[in-house]
Amino acid sequence: MEVVNAVTMAHHFIHPKLSTANLVIDATAGNGYDTLFLAENTPKKTTIVSFDIQAEALAKTEILLSKHSLLYKVRLILDSHANIANYINQPIDAAMFNLGYLPGGNHLVSTSPDTTLQAMTNILQCLKTKGLITIAAYPGYEHGRVECQTVHEYLTNLNQKAFTVGCWSMVNQKNNPPVLYIIQKNKEWTA
Ligand SMILES: C[S@@+](CC[C@H](N)C(=O)[O-])C[C@H]1O[C@@H](n2cnc3c(N)ncnc32)[C@H](O)[C@@H]1O
Repeated sequence: MEVVNAVTMAHHFIHPKLSTANLVIDATAGNGYDTLFLAENTPKKTTIVSFDIQAEALAKTEILLSKHSLLYKVRLILDSHANIANYINQPIDAAMFNLGYLPGGNHLVSTSPDTTLQAMTNILQCLKTKGLITIAAYPGYEHGRVECQTVHEYLTNLNQKAFTVGCWSMVNQKNNPPVLYIIQKNKEWTA
């Protein structure tokens, strides 16, 4: 791992789940780097389903995956991750959320606490036992701070027998550095 940050740590935690995965989710496609990571590290048969509410983001993801000849395993969905139940009815091996706005895009179009919690709840229900979710949150600006706090409170109250929840951040970085949440499912659970 060259650079240590919330995104590379998310890749580090999720990587061991990928070699046997059938279905993985990128809940926030953005510029496509996480989708590419998932596509590069899963078997040929794996499906990666990537959501974004911006056509611009999915277009960037499509170009990036095409360049790497990996688009064949990716399903791009132009809709909120909150509506995931309309698209997926199979068990999920792993999922990634990289919250916030599209880097280089409109900063006012961002993930929001309500839809993030809805998507998380849906994915936690469909997650396989031993499946993993990572959530990179950005409390360094006001909207991101509120969203991070909402996610933190939700995860703090998750049933501890059903889930193991960890949290990673850089303790010597000033100005509210990104926070990575790592959630592993231990047994069947309904919200
Ligand atoms: C920080 S970026 C994601 C970065 C991306 N994973 C990458 O590797 O480049 C956050 C993305 O979430 C998208 N987004 C915001 N709200 C969303 C929602 N409700 N459902 C799905 N995507 C959403 C934004 O449009 C933006 O592209």
